Amino acid sequence: MKRLVNFQEKDEATAEDWKFSDSIDPSTTIRSNKRQKGNGNKDNKIDRASIKAKRSEMLNFRKQLPIYSGRDAIIQTIRDNSTVIVMGETGSGKTTQIPQFIREAGMISTKAGGIAITQPRRVAAVNLAKRVAEETVTQLGGQVGYTVRFDDTSSPQTIIKYLTDGMLLREILSDELLFRYKFIVLDEAHERTLRTDMLFGMIKKIQRIRHEKAQAGEDVEELKIVIMSATLDAEKFSEFFNGAKILYVSGRLHPVDTLFTQEPQADYLDATLVTIFQIHTKSPPGDILVFLPGQDAIESLSSLVNEYSSQLRPRQQKLMSCPLFAALPPSQQQKVFDPAPANTRKVILATNIAETSITIPGIKYVIDCGLAKMRGFNPKIGVESLLLHPISKSSAWQRTGRAGRERAGICYRLYTEDTFRELEDDTVPEIRRCNLAAAVLSLKASGIENVLDFDYMDRPSRASLVRALEELYALGAISDAGTLSDLGRKMSEFPLDPTFSKVIIKSAEYKCSMEVIAIISLLSVDAIFFTPSDKREQATEARRKFLHMDGDHLTLLNVLKGYWEVKGDPEWCRENFINIRNMKIALDVRNQLIQFCERLGISPTTSCGTDTDQVLKCFLTGFFQNTALLQPDGSYKSVAGNQLVKIHPGSAMFTKRVEGIMYNELVFTTKHYVRGVSAIQSSWLPQAAPKYFNNVTNK
Ligand code: CDP
Ligand code: MG
Repeated sequence: MKRLVNFQEKDEATAEDWKFSDSIDPSTTIRSNKRQKGNGNKDNKIDRASIKAKRSEMLNFRKQLPIYSGRDAIIQTIRDNSTVIVMGETGSGKTTQIPQFIREAGMISTKAGGIAITQPRRVAAVNLAKRVAEETVTQLGGQVGYTVRFDDTSSPQTIIKYLTDGMLLREILSDELLFRYKFIVLDEAHERTLRTDMLFGMIKKIQRIRHEKAQAGEDVEELKIVIMSATLDAEKFSEFFNGAKILYVSGRLHPVDTLFTQEPQADYLDATLVTIFQIHTKSPPGDILVFLPGQDAIESLSSLVNEYSSQLRPRQQKLMSCPLFAALPPSQQQKVFDPAPANTRKVILATNIAETSITIPGIKYVIDCGLAKMRGFNPKIGVESLLLHPISKSSAWQRTGRAGRERAGICYRLYTEDTFRELEDDTVPEIRRCNLAAAVLSLKASGIENVLDFDYMDRPSRASLVRALEELYALGAISDAGTLSDLGRKMSEFPLDPTFSKVIIKSAEYKCSMEVIAIISLLSVDAIFFTPSDKREQATEARRKFLHMDGDHLTLLNVLKGYWEVKGDPEWCRENFINIRNMKIALDVRNQLIQFCERLGISPTTSCGTDTDQVLKCFLTGFFQNTALLQPDGSYKSVAGNQLVKIHPGSAMFTKRVEGIMYNELVFTTKHYVRGVSAIQSSWLPQAAPKYFNNVTNK
């Protein structure tokens, strides 16, 4: 390597926090089990003896977990209290064991109600359900199941259900007091995602109402709540949940040496790569977990790692990179959990999904770049941002802890100790920094009319709540009286942002449901095209044949048509620089959206044929606020907010000058960039949103 990243040796992580007396013998740790894979249809035939053997193998594993020694005390506390807060290190067994303890103690059943465990991330929900089905030696989708957006693997028999926080919010729409559950576990509470924060207030209210009903002699089961977290201000949570009992599970962490860089690093990707090779060439075996801000950073580093590792001497230990981010399909995520092949060191390149949501075996080294991509929102001009931000101290410690799960480890922080001292203690809850339109719509649909007075753990600013109400009003989701309209109710049934739901509902009127559903599915994934840094020109050239003169929406549709023509041929995708993985995810989303439409009586096959203006007009009924008009100097200014916006270089409209544009998103990175851009005519605007444009012109 040309250059070294110099780390300053520091003893900080050997502080008491990171040392625990007893340690797991790694030889008894069962690695994430892939044996069950492929067993699917043979399960019925597995004889009793092997089920028994499997059960006892699993029980032995479970007994090794730190949480297991506290089993009886945990069960008792949960029995005696209506709300319990459980704190414990990642990997100690909270998420997989507590639901099993509750079941084993006979507290849940199909009759009395089951247990729902929420996760901020879909991957975590799916993996945890698989793991617990395995531990209980049952079929996934039977007693143990999961529900995530666009994938429901649960049945009426399911009594332990892992689901995303968003799905539980949706279940409240059809089962207002969540009678199907006796327990709600709000997991990963420290992440403070928007939806988990909404659930705090809603579940607390549901618990109160069920309690009042039970007191009044109605035949109603009380609701028990468990809040779980790796790090959080337990006292604050306890206070919010009426003085809930706090339980601490001591983790088993081995000492972790934390090293800071001596100098700030200008290029974190380069510094990461250099550090990976420093470890690989100089340090004993053990896998490396790298924390990176997002999919793009992960993908570019992944190809760099592979490139460099192909240059290693034949007899040297190999390096294998395994990306891990939320949008990655489960089959590829699995690689992260499988043991590395012989003579190979795994380098897991992850977003903060690996911070607390999932535990990966085999890690000895952690590289923390110190950054995360964070959403931000400016309610005054309605601009969302997705910017690189320094992480908080509590995040940094979580990342560090990942190195000490199975044995002593080392954490390389790619920032200086001074930088660390300046970090915020905790991450700001998402509810204080994002667009609240979807949240407010779902509060309203759940019967909480006065969203300003809702019981928030951390109250969002009044300005952002008012902005959300205005946006929903302009979309027609709330009436003049401020109540949810019929359209608003329909919109809340889609698991989509309100703007998208509106467009789908309106597509029946504009006779272009087929096109709209396809485009929305394609917009729901990160990117359909990929551009390798060394083949930029070929990629641009290949893309040209899909370009539609009216912009990105219809270009995406062309890609899908091409993909269908060749029946998804992987070779064709490679030649055309189309990300087949994302394409498949998009098609999966499309199938789900079709089902939603059928349920709401919207025919998903209605097509506008060649009259593609209909598609753009229809999108405008949701995205009328995401529009900008051409200025005499050739720039574009947004209709809402009069903001100068630039078309992203990746857009089909990048070099075009048209009267008006509509965009999927306006994101502030270095400039105010718009992405997912199409040409519109300004005369279409009043028809798309009469309420909004009457208001604007009256002002
Ligand atoms: O919730 P918490 O972080 O406390 O731990 P958990 O998710 O319940 O995981 C407990 C242990 O189960 C982990 O340390 C892993 O050893 C194992 N596990 C696994 O092997 N595969 C999974 N998909 C999840 C957990
Ligand atoms: Mg957990």
